[in-house]
Amino acid sequence: MYKPHHVNFTTRRSAWFGHIPFAFSLVAREKPDILVELGTHWGGSYFSFCDSVKANSTDTLCFAVDTWQGEAHAGIYDEQVFNYVTEKNREFSKFSTLLRKRFDDAASSFDAKSVDILHIDGFHSYEAVRNDYETWLPKMKDNGIILFHDVMVTKPGFGVKKFWSEISESFPDNNLVFRHSNGLGVLSLDTTQSIKERFSIRSRRLYSAEMNIRAKLLEVNMRLRHNFD
Ligand SMILES: C[S@@+](CC[C@H](N)C(=O)[O-])C[C@H]1O[C@@H](n2cnc3c(N)ncnc32)[C@H](O)[C@@H]1O
Repeated sequence: MYKPHHVNFTTRRSAWFGHIPFAFSLVAREKPDILVELGTHWGGSYFSFCDSVKANSTDTLCFAVDTWQGEAHAGIYDEQVFNYVTEKNREFSKFSTLLRKRFDDAASSFDAKSVDILHIDGFHSYEAVRNDYETWLPKMKDNGIILFHDVMVTKPGFGVKKFWSEISESFPDNNLVFRHSNGLGVLSLDTTQSIKERFSIRSRRLYSAEMNIRAKLLEVNMRLRHNFD
C-alpha cells in the first residue's frame, strides 16, 4: 500500500487525504506528460502525484502553482509552509517545479492544449473556481482530465459544488465524483469515450465506494503506525 509520508494527522493535515489512493493510481494509469496543480499548500495532493510519477517512472513533468500565502478559506499562513514544500520538492527536482505565482499569471507559462491533468484546489468561491476553469481550459489537451476538490462542501462562501453540478451536467458520461474528503469531481474532456470506458470500470458508484474504502484503509494503516515507518 502506498503511504504518503508528506502528510500526517497533526501539523501537515490535508482535507484531500482521502483522495490520495486515487491520485496515485490516476498518474500510474494515465502516465500524463504534464500535470498542473492550482493550490498546493503543504502538498498533500501534489506530493502524492509526484510520488506516483517517481514510483511508476511515468516521465511526467509536474507543476505546483500557489502564492504560498494562503487566503480566507485555507487561512493565511507564514513562510514555514513554502520552506517545507521547497525542501520536500528536492526529492522530485528532476520533474517537479514550484511556481510561486497567482494562478492567472502562471497560465501564460503553458502552451495551448499541453496539459494532461489539471487539479483545481484554490480559493473555493463559485467565481474563483469558474475563473480557474475558464482560464486553464484552453491549456488542456482534448483528452485532458480536470480534478475539482470540495465539490461536496456546502459551507457559506464555497461554490465548487454549484460549479461542479453545472459542469458535470455538460459532460454527463464523462464525470465521476468521490463524495468523501469534501468531494472530488473528476472530469474527462475526452468525449469520444465515456469515463467508465476510460477507467475500465463497470459502475461509477462502485468505483467511488472502492476509493472510499481504500482511503479508510490507508488512514487506519497510517494511524496504527503513527506514520513513522
Ligand atoms: C485548499 S489549499 C490547497 C490544498 C492542497 N491541494 C492539499 O492537498 O492540501 C488552497 C491553496 O491555494 C492557494 N491559492 C488560492 N487562490 C490562489 C490564486 N489565485 N493564486 C495562487 N494561489 C492561490 C492558497 O495559497 C492555498 O495554499
